[in-house]
Amino acid sequence: MSQPAPRAFRPKIHFTAPSMWLNDPNGLCYENGKYHLYYQHYPDDTVWGPMHWGHAVSGDLLHWEHCPIAMYPDELGMIFSGSAVIDEENVSGFGTDGKTPMVIFYTSHGDKERQSMAYSLDGGMTFTRYPGNPILENPGINDYRDPKVFRNPVKGGFSMVVSAFDRAMIYHSTDLKHWEKTGEFGPVAEFAGERYLWECPDLFPLKTETGEKWVFLLSVVYPENIGIHRTCYFIGQFDGDTFIREPGAPMELLDGGPDFYAGSTYWGTPQRLFIAWEAAPSYAGALPTGEYCGQMTLARTLTLKSTPAGDKVASKPVGIEKALDGADLGGETLPGECFVLRVCGEGEGSVTLYNQEGEQVVFGVDSSNHFYVDRSRSTVLSISETYERQVNQYVSLPRFEQGAWQIDGVFDISSLELFGDQGTRCLTNLLFPKQPYTSCKTQGNVQVFFGDLSE
Ligand code: FRU
Repeated sequence: MSQPAPRAFRPKIHFTAPSMWLNDPNGLCYENGKYHLYYQHYPDDTVWGPMHWGHAVSGDLLHWEHCPIAMYPDELGMIFSGSAVIDEENVSGFGTDGKTPMVIFYTSHGDKERQSMAYSLDGGMTFTRYPGNPILENPGINDYRDPKVFRNPVKGGFSMVVSAFDRAMIYHSTDLKHWEKTGEFGPVAEFAGERYLWECPDLFPLKTETGEKWVFLLSVVYPENIGIHRTCYFIGQFDGDTFIREPGAPMELLDGGPDFYAGSTYWGTPQRLFIAWEAAPSYAGALPTGEYCGQMTLARTLTLKSTPAGDKVASKPVGIEKALDGADLGGETLPGECFVLRVCGEGEGSVTLYNQEGEQVVFGVDSSNHFYVDRSRSTVLSISETYERQVNQYVSLPRFEQGAWQIDGVFDISSLELFGDQGTRCLTNLLFPKQPYTSCKTQGNVQVFFGDLSE
């Protein structure tokens, strides 16, 4: 169990479990005005352990109501990450008395990893396991997990993408229970020659000006000596069986910040909504947060934006638009510990948020036209060896644009999410200053606007 927290780090508008450990978002779906957020949860300690699915619901993706734990480990193993489908046509046949089943897909992590399913007829509060589990046996691969199910617009029915060590396997079904393999994506050249582990794949279409393209999302464990975890995306097409990468389109990072992993998108929303675990798995268990450990990013809308470097996925945080649009030109004093910021700059320039203890975080655009964030002096607390190593890394992403720039951001006690150039370049960070940052200064041709979010 962790030590008491040196101060209250629990964010105001980012989701945390009531207590104990949390990792990946799971089973993201929208039904009857409610956004469901299930999550990897270990209710008996503040570090990773036998995985359950915790559960919360929200009407606006900012205010969450905690619900009872939805899934407990069973004879097939722990309940690893997965997804949800609202089975409106009742193709599964689980619906009785006219009730629409919510069907969830997850990995049973026992002596092997296999895919299983369960369904709920009470709005996602309690689940019945499918007696025919597992629905996909292990194909002889240790790491075989994180089923994400989506509608197949080409063949009808549903497809499922599952990560399988260094690639993804794709399956098709018409009744959600029987699955047939239709394709594979990967391995990819970017991760050749090393042991890169693929996790939490997702596959979905986004509109372009003339049609649509498909995006393949992947959370990747880089080799231990690099020790960083990232969520990447590829752009291409889905032919109904498999994902085909667009020739020449480079792999990109959905967010290049240090604390961003294992995200997934919602079922059942008109816009493509996404939430990630706001964490770096390598030090996620050593955070100084006391009775809870782990938080989610804000929900983000994903769209495709055309840039001079081609189509890129753009992320926009949900629910703070009004605060951003009404943001006022800021002075030296920060509006509090929960606020939005809009930074407009041209050329090399930076913003520093700091306090009298000498703790500070700096971000902006550097002399090579990269967005960057420097957390190296963000805290005087000693957190863990891995944290210390990573916190000293200079984190940056080349811009896709030239000229004037804008960064929108959300600061929430221990979290700073930054969205550069309309969200095509994002940097998400956890910060644990011993004392709150109170002040702001800028360098270069930069203006900062603040909007209070504490109400
Ligand atoms: C990603 C992950 C998933 C797995 C889950 C276990 O963080 O490793 O691949 O299903 O966490 O908690």
